[in-house]
Amino acid sequence: MDKISIIKPDDWHVHLRDKDALKTTVPAAMRCFERCIIMPNLLPPVTSADSIKKYRDSILSYKPSDSTWTPLMVMYLTDQTSKKCIKAAYDQGLIFGCKYYPAGATTNSATGVSNPNRLNGVFGVMQELGIILQIHGEVTESSVDIFDREKVFIDRHLTKIKHNFPELKIVLEHVTTKQGVDFVRDSDGYIAATITPQHLLFNRNDMLAGGIRPHLFCLPILKRDLHQNALIKAATSGEKKFFLGTDSAPHARENKENICGCAGCFSHHAAIELYAEAFERAGALHQLEQFASVNGAEFYGLEKNSELISLLRDPWQVPNQIDYRNSSLVPLAAGTTLNWRLEI
Ligand code: NCD
Ligand code: ZN
Repeated sequence: MDKISIIKPDDWHVHLRDKDALKTTVPAAMRCFERCIIMPNLLPPVTSADSIKKYRDSILSYKPSDSTWTPLMVMYLTDQTSKKCIKAAYDQGLIFGCKYYPAGATTNSATGVSNPNRLNGVFGVMQELGIILQIHGEVTESSVDIFDREKVFIDRHLTKIKHNFPELKIVLEHVTTKQGVDFVRDSDGYIAATITPQHLLFNRNDMLAGGIRPHLFCLPILKRDLHQNALIKAATSGEKKFFLGTDSAPHARENKENICGCAGCFSHHAAIELYAEAFERAGALHQLEQFASVNGAEFYGLEKNSELISLLRDPWQVPNQIDYRNSSLVPLAAGTTLNWRLEI
């Protein structure tokens, strides 16, 4: 049986939700990751030092005491976020970034940022303190085609933010287009991007050709194969600017198989195995460690993990569903066979 061992990975973008969802999401996050950047798009969102502390404590109450798994918290930016509020959270060592959701761009983003110009003071403080800005890079205007929203965001907003705050560390979260990859690659070392397993393994044909598959619907939406190929190339290149961020985002089955289904794919049941699948298809398993376990830690200024994990070539079938809240969810790649299995 083939076996590969890599430094234990981290997930630089995940949604754990709150309350009873944590019963499913915390153990799943601990399965193969040592540290996880926890997205703050709860209802109401996590916008202050106090709410970050509360949320972190409730996550930690689901962690066994002998585990070293660590949630890294993030503050949700709104039009009202003040410099003082950011400094307070930073001074208490509570935040590993601030998340910029354009208002209305995605799940629970209604109270996000409606005009980035209003945040110039906040971006200035973040630049000064070295706090990372995590961006959901899509415009929200209904006149802009959903497949173009990332590119338009880069042209209209990201270029400007980068120009005005040249030393602000930015992560273009879940990059999905060739334009996004090129922008990050051609820019300086202050910008990086996370890449999800769904955008490496699937394109919009998988979601739409021959019938709509709502469990592949996420935001930013899956693009055409040209973009998928650019992402595969970036992830498997070993370049320091690209690293793992699953964007694992659980939604109960009935909220996705719905007349107006939610966006988000749950991938923490098999996160590293899904990436291994994509890397093996690209003939680049030897680059998995760099992408999953090295580049992100370096960008965040943290040490690499000291433990290793191992993957065995031992095909297994992904379950069709997983218990979630009072219901169930359909995980990414449900019912399909994955070639690699995490050695427990
Ligand atoms: C995420 C969610 O459900 O919270 N959904 C998604 O499609 N990715 C939010 C996000 O990251 O956009
Ligand atoms: Zn996300």
